[in-house]
Amino acid sequence: MHSHSHDNPAQTEGRLIRWASSYDFLTNILTLGQARRLRNLTIDNALLEPGESVLDVGCGTGGVTIPAKQRVGVAGQAAGIDPAPEMIAVAQNKGQRKGLEIDFRIGVIEALPYPDASFDVVTSSLMMHHLPAHVQAKGLAEICRVLKPGGRLLIADLLGPKASSSQHVLNALAMHQGLKVGVEDLQDAIKGAGFSEVTLLDRRFFIIGFVRAIK
Ligand SMILES: C[S@@+](CC[C@H](N)C(=O)[O-])C[C@H]1O[C@@H](n2cnc3c(N)ncnc32)[C@H](O)[C@@H]1O
Repeated sequence: MHSHSHDNPAQTEGRLIRWASSYDFLTNILTLGQARRLRNLTIDNALLEPGESVLDVGCGTGGVTIPAKQRVGVAGQAAGIDPAPEMIAVAQNKGQRKGLEIDFRIGVIEALPYPDASFDVVTSSLMMHHLPAHVQAKGLAEICRVLKPGGRLLIADLLGPKASSSQHVLNALAMHQGLKVGVEDLQDAIKGAGFSEVTLLDRRFFIIGFVRAIK
């Protein structure tokens, strides 16, 4: 396992976010004050149950990891990784303030620091569009490796222009004007990484869609 000094980000070709202290504020503005509803929908779409173990990849400030831990409860386990030390520091503070035991670590999707078959569920929220395609493929294979057989992957990310009519305005607002592909286009890569039953879910949140897959 790699260890990183607190100030150094993990090496990755993915785009890091390092302005961690204003991230939650901006997320709430971009979701028109409905960040909590987005997080709850994400957890619901992951079908998380009390007692399960969950890993949140690219966890940022823990927006999904924290409600995931609340859902799996004391009998369950939650972990979050992100290459940006600033994000991990904010996530750790938030978790501690809520009295939650969550394993937040600096790390990258392309080399997950966990043994094979460690988790019932892996979530990835708003991070896949931060990665070039070959890193997405490597990361999806890593997620498949750390999931238990029958485990679930839930990806929440921006829908592409074909799937979302309100794409233009909202993408401009979210500073993703150049986005050509969306979460729906990841389905082949997810199958290629070894998953079955890959489904684009009907329940969406504005321009954010959800894909769920089974290992
Ligand atoms: C838009 S944020 C989403 C954060 C959080 N999941 C959420 O839903 O609020 C994208 C995150 O992906 C992280 N990231 C970038 N490259 C990554 C990689 N290779 N592995 C894991 N996370 C990565 C960034 O540092 C950033 O925190």
